[in-house]
Amino acid sequence: MTTPTPVYLDCDTGVDDAVALAYLLASPAIDLVGIGTVSGNTSAAQAARNTLDLLQLAGRGDIPVAIGAHDHLSHGFSGGAPHVHGDNGIGGVILPRATREPEASTAVELLIELSHRFSGRLHVLTIGPVTNIALALAADPALPERIAGVTTMGGAAVVPGNITPVAEANIFNDPEAAAVLLAADWDVTLVPLDVTMDHTLSEADRGALLTSADPFTRAIGELLDHYFDFYLGEYGIRTCALHDPLAAILAAGAVGLTRAPRVPVVVDTSAGPGRGQTIADLRGQRMGVRDHAGSRIRVVLETDAAITPHLVETLLAVGTPSLRS
Ligand code: BDR
Ligand code: CA
Repeated sequence: MTTPTPVYLDCDTGVDDAVALAYLLASPAIDLVGIGTVSGNTSAAQAARNTLDLLQLAGRGDIPVAIGAHDHLSHGFSGGAPHVHGDNGIGGVILPRATREPEASTAVELLIELSHRFSGRLHVLTIGPVTNIALALAADPALPERIAGVTTMGGAAVVPGNITPVAEANIFNDPEAAAVLLAADWDVTLVPLDVTMDHTLSEADRGALLTSADPFTRAIGELLDHYFDFYLGEYGIRTCALHDPLAAILAAGAVGLTRAPRVPVVVDTSAGPGRGQTIADLRGQRMGVRDHAGSRIRVVLETDAAITPHLVETLLAVGTPSLRS
């Protein structure tokens, strides 16, 4: 078996963040070595509380969680998305309170420390606004030299946004930070709405999670309830998009890519109607994937398989007593 990849996760936990976390904990390809939180779906402090509570329920209270940016680079935190993720960010579900508290260090300090400890091997996975990453790059411009790669859930290349006609939530919450991340000299896999909206969870999948012998897996099934209510208005049935779980699965290398061109991507940071748009140069892609020489940003547009069976199977495997000691 290959050595698991050390991963720093930056998140705004969040229902689909919680599902991604569950996947990362269960995946043998991933060694989750630290987590930073940021305001997005909920505040950075509440996201840390949610993450710590989930980790303890999963028996992984050993993983450090550091609170990151409350406010975004150019504006204050606007209060999150309770209509999507519930008042507490995890669908209103009250979890047993973890005994472990957040680290004394900030998310930026944790990321930089981990980048030294796992120099050349650390993978950065972001599933929220990327404020912490921009701040880390400002604090330590040499950071990219120690990072093996970055996977970022965010953006909308050719499909509509989910906050404005052109902007996706993670990018819209902090376009200036996203612009910094995409301009840095490292390999980025961008996972936009173009592909995340194609992967969904059904009521039958949620029902299967609810029957797990593992309390953590059951909790994941419970907190999806509120999220399914929101997506009823998007898909016409109770379901949800697997934004953050897809990014986690891609970071684990568990699914192949059929369309993922390496192209320049810039973020609109203007104050106009285009604010937060990810402008990917997809000209010339009609006859198959054509990579732009020099671009280090891979825009995922299509995977070679549906991820849902793999996701559900991986989460349910945890319910097997021998897998959680
Ligand atoms: C992204 O925004 C958040 O609401 C989700 O957690 C996901 O990271 C999808 O646009
Ligand atoms: Ca998220």
